[in-house]
Amino acid sequence: MVENLQKTVAIVTGASSGIGRAIAKNLAAAGSNVVLVARRKQRLNDLATEIEKANGQSLPIEADLTSSDEAIRVVNETIDKFGTLDILVNAAGVMLNGDSIETPVKDWDAMVNVNLRGLMYLTKAALPHLKESAEKSDRKVSDVVNISSVAGRFAASQVAIYSATKFAVTAATEAWRQEYTRQHIRFTVIEPGKTATELFDHRVGENEAFEKMFGKVEELQADDIANTVHFIVTSPRRMAINEVVIRPTDQA
Ligand SMILES: NC(=O)c1ccc[n+]([C@@H]2O[C@H](COP(=O)([O-])OP(=O)(O)OC[C@H]3O[C@@H](n4cnc5c(N)ncnc54)[C@H](OP(=O)(O)O)[C@@H]3O)[C@@H](O)[C@H]2O)c1
Repeated sequence: MVENLQKTVAIVTGASSGIGRAIAKNLAAAGSNVVLVARRKQRLNDLATEIEKANGQSLPIEADLTSSDEAIRVVNETIDKFGTLDILVNAAGVMLNGDSIETPVKDWDAMVNVNLRGLMYLTKAALPHLKESAEKSDRKVSDVVNISSVAGRFAASQVAIYSATKFAVTAATEAWRQEYTRQHIRFTVIEPGKTATELFDHRVGENEAFEKMFGKVEELQADDIANTVHFIVTSPRRMAINEVVIRPTDQA
């Protein structure tokens, strides 16, 4: 049985906002000790206070995941504080789309550095501990949940490099799944469609471009994704959910 998250330790990246924040709150409410990772420390502290008020436990860690050293520090501080690591949710990400002639190359670099390199660094640092948890914990299984995107399944105009990073996340997740599934580390990739978060606020005109592509949709809520993560990590040990595409019902 793995339904109970009591005594588990989860790292959630992107916990200062949107999908990551909702996932962190959800796992903490289910009994997990949650490590909250992002760059905006005040937001992480506020979330930690909120979790504490609801009788949960968390550890806010300010880190820029574009650095491999920072990712290693996050894992080391997690182990120092809680002694183990059972669940990793890679939700940190940026989306800076636009016309490929106009878009500065630094925006492309930013997406590669967070969406792919950050996820890659943290997963690598976490793997030895996840392996140990799958061997020794009561659950006898551990979890990595990577937040990709529908853009990780379908490429579209003006979304080239964002899409490329998310295709890479989807591909790496499947390869890691095959590599570690016999050791009971479950890898899941979630590919959400449009979700109401700050993701679209970082670039002027992002929403307009999206609406042109898909029409005006009733967006998913961050809690919809968080509830899905909850279902994945509390599924029985025998059951690995490999890939989940979640779209707003009216997103074609
Ligand atoms: N919203 C959607 O429609 C949608 C759809 C499909 C997939 N997604 C994916 O869902 C994930 C979460 O995005 P969201 O929609 O919740 O957007 P969001 O509200 O903008 O959250 C993004 C998070 O990533 C963190 N982050 C960005 N750069 C970072 C860095 N260098 N180091 C550490 N953390 C960093 C941000 O924290 P700080 O700024 O505090 O560092 C923030 O917590 C992303 O991977 C995104 O691609 C979103």
